[in-house]
Amino acid sequence: MTPQATPTTKLRLRSVSKSFIQPRTGHTTLAVADVSLDIASGEFICIVGPSGCGKSTVLNMIAGLDTPSAGAIEKDGVAITGPGADRGVMFQDYALMPWQTVQENVGFGLHHGTPGKGFTTQQRQERVRHFVELVGLTGSEKKYPHQLSGGMRQRVALARLLANGPDVLLMDEPLGALDAQTRLVLQQELLRIWGQTAPRAQRKTAIFITHDIEEAVFLADRVVVMSSHPGRVRAVIDIDLPRERNEHTRADPRFGQLSEQIWNLIRDEAWRAAGAAAAPPEAAATPA
Ligand SMILES: Nc1ncnc2c1ncn2[C@@H]1O[C@H](COP(=O)(O)OP(=O)(O)OP(=O)(O)O)[C@@H](O)[C@H]1O
Ligand SMILES: [Mg+2]
Repeated sequence: MTPQATPTTKLRLRSVSKSFIQPRTGHTTLAVADVSLDIASGEFICIVGPSGCGKSTVLNMIAGLDTPSAGAIEKDGVAITGPGADRGVMFQDYALMPWQTVQENVGFGLHHGTPGKGFTTQQRQERVRHFVELVGLTGSEKKYPHQLSGGMRQRVALARLLANGPDVLLMDEPLGALDAQTRLVLQQELLRIWGQTAPRAQRKTAIFITHDIEEAVFLADRVVVMSSHPGRVRAVIDIDLPRERNEHTRADPRFGQLSEQIWNLIRDEAWRAAGAAAAPPEAAATPA
């Protein structure tokens, strides 16, 4: 790495905690406790951990949809105080407008949100065309969401996210509702669109939540492993697999080692979260 390529910090979480008070009982849940993390500009971070460990809560606080009970979150050195077009969010359930076509959905924020306010009609149309093409949906511009497969709907959601020009992408299990094969294809598509072959300075900073360890290893520069009750950062694993990641990546022995290392960090909690009293002895539980 050349000296001028030293990455700058895009997001900084400093001792972030979040408690929720149940209105009916007054009971307090400490959802996230003392999470500290620096995320570099252009970095792709995946967060994994058992159900209920606070992954979505962390993402929502970065999005500005929730506020930390203690600690602080900064973007480019400035405290995050609410939602902003600089941070785009994508969820599992598409969240497309069913009465709008593909191109209307992609252009939604450019008509109704701040990012597109300075654009002429022609610039908006060109921007929509560009992102529809980038996600591989040219020819489907006039279709409605019900005419699309799940994979195509998430392509639309990704195009809409990018059309608004955020510099941070926040994705909460965006591929979680897709079948296994579509998911593999979209993982690779996501890396292409993110720009895995481009210099890091041109990439957006991405945070991606998943339950799928192999998905995390395939996508990420670093995987944040969380543990629950309360939600904490258990480990941060560097994914030292070369980019570009492609169909050969999963055959790399290092891919299997990293997946196993992460599984071993969460296996006990994952078994308990799935209703078992305890995980079986380690040797028997090692994934193939
Ligand atoms: N709005 C809320 N009010 C009360 N409790 C909440 C709220 N949101 C989250 N929690 C609690 O905070 C904890 C963390 O929840 P969160 O949704 O962040 O977990 P998660 O890791 O995203 O889980 P999953 O993998 O199932 O999506 C859980 O105990 C959850 O019940
Ligand atoms: Mg969640």
